[in-house]
Amino acid sequence: MSSKRVFPAPLGGSVKIPGDKSISQRVAMLASLAEGTSRVIGYLNGADARSTLSAMEQMGAVAEFRDDALYITGVAGTLRPPAGPLDMGNSGTGTRLLAGLVAGAGIEVTMVGDESLSSRPMGRIRHPLELMGAHIGLSGQKGTLPMVVCGGKLKGIGYLLPMASAQVKSCILLAGLYAEGKTTVVEPRPTRDHTEKLFQALDIPIEIDGLEISIHGFGSRGPRFKARDFVVPGDFSSAAFWIVAAAVRPGAELVLEGVGLNPRRTALLDVLRRMGASIEIVVTEAAGDPWGTVTVRGAPLHGTVIEGDEIPNLIDELPILAVAGALASGRTEIRDAAELRVKESDRIAEMVGNLRLFGVEVEELEDGMVVGGPAALETPERALDSRGDHRIAMSMAILNTFGSGPVTIQNTGCVDTSYPDFWKHMAALGGKVEG
Ligand code: S3P
Repeated sequence: MSSKRVFPAPLGGSVKIPGDKSISQRVAMLASLAEGTSRVIGYLNGADARSTLSAMEQMGAVAEFRDDALYITGVAGTLRPPAGPLDMGNSGTGTRLLAGLVAGAGIEVTMVGDESLSSRPMGRIRHPLELMGAHIGLSGQKGTLPMVVCGGKLKGIGYLLPMASAQVKSCILLAGLYAEGKTTVVEPRPTRDHTEKLFQALDIPIEIDGLEISIHGFGSRGPRFKARDFVVPGDFSSAAFWIVAAAVRPGAELVLEGVGLNPRRTALLDVLRRMGASIEIVVTEAAGDPWGTVTVRGAPLHGTVIEGDEIPNLIDELPILAVAGALASGRTEIRDAAELRVKESDRIAEMVGNLRLFGVEVEELEDGMVVGGPAALETPERALDSRGDHRIAMSMAILNTFGSGPVTIQNTGCVDTSYPDFWKHMAALGGKVEG
């Protein structure tokens, strides 16, 4: 099992952020379905993006990395049955979106995953997909993987999402591609809209009316749309670690380039500014999924309340935001975030437990936590365990750049799912990492 030893050190300087995980996976799926060859710049070289691409290759797409780009030749709407189970690794996005994509494709697909993915709820996609006419078998004990998707002739449905989840929304929209008639999803709160933006870029007929999104299905013969070129912006959720590391340290200055700035992903910036942070944004590309440069200058921060509509737009940033809370003065409250309990780990329990090991005062709530600060961090002697959750591993590494001594973080291989260059970038920004 891999582990890292992280030392206290101020971080500063400049780094280019690698490709967005959510967008890379969606591009892999849609380019694989298109007619012709798409050229993709900036595809994330992370395990989740690789497992999704490999799944598409097993269903007939052809992918090749050449001259710093990824070329994907699609199947023009007709997926081939894979020879065996698709190993989705750690990827909830890959699994849930792909289940929707193949539900109407007339093939049978089995999906398996690692221990973390095999504990995550899949009933949330089974229900709408079965309403559309697919058969979904979940042989795990609690509605979990392994999953068999047995495609059927799908019909469009109207579906009110019981939780704010871009994965469930996207799953239904992708299934809607193969359905007869119109499929409408209504979100309880706005979530990331990368799927919708890519549909628009590919001229797939989609209508967006506030929180209601509709797609006109192509029917069981499958969608017909042409390949195109894509540029994947840097992952805001990866940038978030450095943004927080600099924002909470007075005197620090850090510049991040090529950062995805989709407004449905960047609520962390609003929260940090509310806490007193100094952050400048320069948008370099505004069309589709925008991106640009983020400059952070450290300042003393104070606590705030994070709840309601903000939550889905910073859902993956809540672990690192809890770190910011520990270093800010006063109370930082996170509420309405029960979804954190079913991510790659129970992120509420893991963050509360880890922060306490550093002497931070934290109250655990069913749907969040209250973090007291500023804490005089006491780095624990004992090793921490990421529990196989990349965002826990990276959040604890950033926390200990403010610690009182070196810390060992075990089970750090998971960082490769979203940010394989994380440790290299930490060293480039002045951090000290061993192992
Ligand atoms: C994702 C959506 C979010 C997020 C996950 C990626 C996506 O999950 O936590 O890391 O790519 O759609 P939910 O939509 O289930 O909250």
